[in-house]
Amino acid sequence: MDSTKESACQDGRGNTLGDKINPSMSLLCRFIDCSRRYSLRLRSTWYRRWFLLTERPRHRTIDLGLGVTCFVPLRGGGRGSIRVGNETKFGSPSAHRLGNGEVMLQANLPESEIVIGRDNWFNNNTMLCALSSIRVGDNCRIGQGVFIMDADFHEINPATRNRSEGLVRPVTIGNNVWIGSRTTVLKGVKIGDNSVIGAMSLVTKEVPENTLVGGVPARVIRKLE
Ligand SMILES: CC(C)(COP(=O)(O)OP(=O)(O)OC[C@H]1O[C@@H](n2cnc3c(N)ncnc32)[C@H](O)[C@@H]1OP(=O)(O)O)[C@@H](O)C(=O)NCCC(=O)NCCS
Repeated sequence: MDSTKESACQDGRGNTLGDKINPSMSLLCRFIDCSRRYSLRLRSTWYRRWFLLTERPRHRTIDLGLGVTCFVPLRGGGRGSIRVGNETKFGSPSAHRLGNGEVMLQANLPESEIVIGRDNWFNNNTMLCALSSIRVGDNCRIGQGVFIMDADFHEINPATRNRSEGLVRPVTIGNNVWIGSRTTVLKGVKIGDNSVIGAMSLVTKEVPENTLVGGVPARVIRKLE
């Protein structure tokens, strides 16, 4: 049962209010909870299958591990490799009630790769856009609206700007990293294990492990114990 439902159905001592007020209320709570979980599972299965069906024919590799859950539609783009480790989750379970969302994994060229480890959670409207390589470790939490890209996609020089993808450098995110909402991570960035990126940051340089950074551009705020 999620926390919203818990507060709606339980008193402070953990007794369900339905039990006290009316047994049929408690039954109703259980029914709502069950049908909600069932519809989440159905939706996730559908999003997952649709992603595999539509993206597999175009991509070099698409591999979703066991227990990968999609609370929002997972969208692909490009022709490269996308690998996602077991138990990784995409989107927020309440997304459909909050105006929805999606997660975009774009491995543009045949040689591009997005490799995501296990037990990660990507919130709504995150976007990973790779020309070479974006790698995410295990057990990371990626906030709403985070953009991670490994290229500039245009050149600064006005004469060639729209004819070249500009600089391309792989991005690597370690294990147990938390990236706050609406952060943008640019090409060539490495984020060390256990580090935290504050909300709305712009990460342009390497972040050492066990470090809290934030701001535009992101600067070290403090070391984490
Ligand atoms: C990074 C964060 C966790 C730090 O929280 P905290 O430990 O309570 O930090 P504080 O609020 O004490 O701030 C410490 C300093 O960092 C600065 N700071 C905090 N968050 C910052 C951010 N996102 N960008 C820039 N600076 C930031 C504060 O201004 C403060 O600076 P000061 O010492 O000069 O006054 C929090 O600010 C944050 O960004 N949370 C992300 C929430 C989110 O996006 N969740 C997504 C859900 S998955």
